[in-house]
Amino acid sequence: MVDSTPAPKHAPLAAVIGWPIAHSRSPRLHGHWLKRYGIAGHYVPLPVMPEHLAEVLRAMPHMGFVGANVTIPHKESVLALADVVTDRAALIGAANTLIFRADGKIHADNTDGYGFIANIRQHAPDWIPGLGPAAVIGAGGAARAVVASLLESGVPELRIANRTRIRAEQIRSEFGAKVVVYDWAQAGNMLEGAMTVVNATSMGMQGKPPLRVPLDALAPGTLVTDLVYTPLMTPFLTEAQARGCEIVDGLGMLLHQATPGFERWFGQRPEVDDELRRIVLA
Ligand code: ATR
Repeated sequence: MVDSTPAPKHAPLAAVIGWPIAHSRSPRLHGHWLKRYGIAGHYVPLPVMPEHLAEVLRAMPHMGFVGANVTIPHKESVLALADVVTDRAALIGAANTLIFRADGKIHADNTDGYGFIANIRQHAPDWIPGLGPAAVIGAGGAARAVVASLLESGVPELRIANRTRIRAEQIRSEFGAKVVVYDWAQAGNMLEGAMTVVNATSMGMQGKPPLRVPLDALAPGTLVTDLVYTPLMTPFLTEAQARGCEIVDGLGMLLHQATPGFERWFGQRPEVDDELRRIVLA
């Protein structure tokens, strides 16, 4: 006989899926919010090899998972496995946040660009993106999310330079006429007159050489931010600060990109504050 009693309500589960995953800070971040808001849920790191991603995603909704974050190397491949892909995730070509809907469908979104803008707005509330050109150094996956969000925020022109020029050209062909590609050797020139400048390469990260773009053309007061957050003060930010620029470090992008997922999964809009920064850095 089939048991018709309703299934007991379990604490909702969420995860971060990657390979490898041991260094992810997301469990600490979401774990702090769960505790802080007294939510009976769990957030776990799931090491998943690329060849197992599809079967893991199919199984998760049946195991009590309400959603997941996705990280390297799955951010692109997850798009083909989702039932619904938001426009911005499709444009960026990657997703970082999955929602397992009650109807069984997998919804994929990209909140990196949201996190990027929310971080700047929190730490530089007077920043007005429409005031002048933005310059983005780098054209990888993270840069694509930054480009999408800056254009959406109303920058009048988006300049971009990348060591491998074709990746920047690709961004111009996908994101439209406001994008202007500079040669890597001319990256310093694109800072002339820029109001917003972003390092979206991995240069300056612990164990890597610093970014070697000349910053002489940076005007005082320019908003300068770095996606690298280990260390928090990269050589790029240190030099920009010495030139009188307004700097915003990259940690807040990681914290803010996590908020839409947490809210969708656990029903509570979480706060990004100094305590969270301390906990994630510890
Ligand atoms: P992510 O998803 O973090 O953006 P990615 O797609 O591998 O990672 O992109 C890394 C970015 O850092 C790219 O813009 C890359 O330039 P290339 O497209 O030429 O690879 C940039 N980058 C990495 N190492 C670099 C280096 N030594 N000099 C200049 N740029 C570098």
